[in-house]
Amino acid sequence: MKKVLGLISSPRKKGNSEIMTKEIMCYIGGDSQLEILQLLDLHIDPCKGCYSCMKPGKKCPRDDDMEFFFRKIAEAEGIILSSPVYNWGINIGIRRIFDRAFLFRDWKDKFENKPCVTFVTYGLPYEEGYALMVLNGLVRQLNLRLKESAAFLGALPGDVLKYGKNLEMAKQMGQALFDPSYRRKQREMECPNCFSNMIKFRSETDLPVPGLRPVSQVECAFCGTVAEIGTTGKGFGVSYHGKGLYDEAFPERLSEWHENSIRSFTRDRKEMEKEWIKKYDHLNIKQIIPPSKKG
Ligand SMILES: Cc1cc2nc3c(=O)[nH]c(=O)nc-3n(C[C@H](O)[C@H](O)[C@H](O)COP(=O)(O)O)c2cc1C
Repeated sequence: MKKVLGLISSPRKKGNSEIMTKEIMCYIGGDSQLEILQLLDLHIDPCKGCYSCMKPGKKCPRDDDMEFFFRKIAEAEGIILSSPVYNWGINIGIRRIFDRAFLFRDWKDKFENKPCVTFVTYGLPYEEGYALMVLNGLVRQLNLRLKESAAFLGALPGDVLKYGKNLEMAKQMGQALFDPSYRRKQREMECPNCFSNMIKFRSETDLPVPGLRPVSQVECAFCGTVAEIGTTGKGFGVSYHGKGLYDEAFPERLSEWHENSIRSFTRDRKEMEKEWIKKYDHLNIKQIIPPSKKG
């Protein structure tokens, strides 16, 4: 029996995300055990940015449902991950988990290659923004295998069911989840490594990240794959080259970079603090205490 977990970031119960998760589940087939977790039901505190999780022998000081969240993914064999588009991006349910990304390191091996499909729901045509690309970035960070992803149009709860295109795609996603022969079709002008179609332009003055990657002038905005824009018979086209930032050696480079950053942060922090506290003293800045924090 296959265990499938639907992770829903929307605050709306019975909203479009819940409907499309269930629609996808209709097509998974076989004997499956289906579960839904509303991410906003979890108690997740914001990341403190203290870097404790990265220091040897130390743990994240937050005592919340992050561990439970990871355990649920580890137990599942297939994942359906979604977010409603809020202001062109993902919403808080998934955002606050994403912000604890350094903790993912301890779970990545358990998640490796677990199949996953992603979708966003959005209300206004052409206003889907960049949310799906961020969601797919999260899939990469979690080490899951992205089988298919889509943006579903629909504003009010239930509107997603009005569009045949949404229903067709949901069917395809349900069937794709456990189909080993399913290969996602690359869409026009989309990066082959992360499926984003957003391009970033850089200039000579942009800072390269030492040891992490060279700077190219045009690249995928999400994974840094080098891109070239040119004219074709039909208008213009984009061709992508190489693996971008996330090649096979990336995890090793990243952990080396993390270790070096933590070492210098731990070593220099106190001295740096003394310096910069003095530097701004003369500005006499008043720290505002909101009413809810006043004793
Ligand atoms: C605060 C807020 C911001 C939103 N921002 C966008 C947006 O930037 N683009 C868009 O197309 N729809 C936007 N929407 C509409 C939702 O994405 C849409 O209603 C979606 O179907 C919600 O999915 P749900 O029912 O699963 O919550 C926004 C909705 C809210 C409440």
